[in-house]
Amino acid sequence: MSARPTVVVTRRLPADVEERLRALFDARLNAQDAPLDATALAAAMRDADALLPTVTDRIDAALLGASDRRVRIVSNFGVGFNNIDVAAAKANGVVVTNTPDVLTDDTADLAVTLMLMVARRTGEGERHVRAGQWTGWRPTQLLGTRVTGKTLGLIGFGRIGRAVAKRARNGFGMRVLFHDPYTSDADAQALGAERRASIEEVLHESDYGSLHCPAPAETHHLMNTARVAAMRRGAFLINTSRGDVVDEAALMRALLDGTIAGAGLDVFEREPAVPRELAAMENVVLLPHLGSATEETRVAMGNRAIDNLAAFFDGGAPRDRVA
Ligand code: DGY
Repeated sequence: MSARPTVVVTRRLPADVEERLRALFDARLNAQDAPLDATALAAAMRDADALLPTVTDRIDAALLGASDRRVRIVSNFGVGFNNIDVAAAKANGVVVTNTPDVLTDDTADLAVTLMLMVARRTGEGERHVRAGQWTGWRPTQLLGTRVTGKTLGLIGFGRIGRAVAKRARNGFGMRVLFHDPYTSDADAQALGAERRASIEEVLHESDYGSLHCPAPAETHHLMNTARVAAMRRGAFLINTSRGDVVDEAALMRALLDGTIAGAGLDVFEREPAVPRELAAMENVVLLPHLGSATEETRVAMGNRAIDNLAAFFDGGAPRDRVA
């Protein structure tokens, strides 16, 4: 790397990551951790060589196509990159990278956490205890649904889907079904998972449905009214992918009329907004997009984003280039 490239980092990152950024680049860190507004993002695109954004920053065609843009690489802090207009980046010769692999296990752990929480009604139980309402053990209190031995249907069988399959098979003896047109049968066989030709078939046979697909335009509202209705009565839906993969209004109707038994959601259509009706339901578990939120993973994501920047400015090929 010759002159130190200027890198704008849109949010606070773990201390070790910020230290490494400062050591390698002219890093413009966000001490207040306040999200950059459109004006600040436009200024960053104009004044920096690189941008290190997160899922909450919309890097759209106007920013990428601006005539005064100096940024040549957008190194996203996250495996999902639906916050970036990748087609516009390609059209304007801006490199985009993401942070795959390093968050697979923690995100899979969180999907399993949601499945257990919603099935065993742990959110309800915790609220009950904290509210001082618990009057003692009784045989019929807060009866949940068994997880062990049941059928889990995975929509998407990439890295995270496969990691969930492994946990479900080995930890809970579950039968695992999946739909994913892009995965090989060898991957599935090694994990003892059974392929189904359609999403509907998976949902129809599963007690738990878990979403692990990316969030490009094709998966917007993939779980629409018809697909939610294709689930078994008494089934649970888990989403740790992206909020807009689920039509939230359709899901809420299904939760209210008993089409499905419950949902465990880590992501929402209009984050950080969560519909009030959803938050009022007892048969849902709602988390604030925590999939990759461990110290270990967030440090690893930061280092991966830095490695991509360093490779680019050294004149090499960033390992995680997506555009
Ligand atoms: C990811 O990496 O995609 C997580 O959802 C955080 O952005």
